[in-house]
Amino acid sequence: MKKITIAIDGYSSTGKSTIAKQLAKALGYVYVDSGAMYRAVTLYALENGFIGEETNKIQALIKMLPYIKLKFEFNQALGYAEMYLDGKNVEKEIRSLRISEYVSTVAAVSEVRQKLVDIQKNMGKDKGVVMDGRDIGTVVFPDAELKLFMTASPETRAHRRYKELLDRGEDVDFKDVLKNVQNRDYIDSHRVNSPLTKAEGAIEFDNTDMGLQDQFERIRGMALRVIEKQ
Ligand code: DC
Repeated sequence: MKKITIAIDGYSSTGKSTIAKQLAKALGYVYVDSGAMYRAVTLYALENGFIGEETNKIQALIKMLPYIKLKFEFNQALGYAEMYLDGKNVEKEIRSLRISEYVSTVAAVSEVRQKLVDIQKNMGKDKGVVMDGRDIGTVVFPDAELKLFMTASPETRAHRRYKELLDRGEDVDFKDVLKNVQNRDYIDSHRVNSPLTKAEGAIEFDNTDMGLQDQFERIRGMALRVIEKQ
């Protein structure tokens, strides 16, 4: 059967990655979390003092971009790939609220986007990929056979993220999480470079009041219908 490309975009914490992971597994496709790549570059920038409360050395970060080594490595036990930065597994670190606070700034830098988009296009060149992010249907794979645009109310998304952070053992305040979700929505959809917007031909999917199983079954159904038509 012919393989397709599936692009899943949407606001932060709309459950894109959960659905994308399940979908990739069900179809035998590769799952790529493009946000993990922006998060890893943000971790690099913070660790090397290029960004922070009192620093904003974006030009210095841009100069170092060719030397930042990003890699996904499949974890058999988990059933999905994990993010490595300069040879180190950074899956846990890149999900922290601190990274979330700076990632939109780093993701707004066009040189960063160029580097990551090139890697992403290359990862999807043989199709059979489910990639989630903000510009997958608009910039990375504008010809994707199936494009989804996920939405949910900011409160619902903040609750999901809050629970996720608590489960990871982070000591966070719900109000800070909600503020971060709203800030990122604003920056991600107002930036000059590849702002978050619904791609042409994308199906809008509001999952505010929908359980995971229900979402998965509907989206898998959509994907199978598109695959059958190839
Ligand atoms: O999906 P996420 O929340 O892990 O993404 C983290 C940030 O990275 C998000 O706030 C915006 C940015 N991002 C982006 O600009 N383009 C993408 N394709 C994926 C993420």
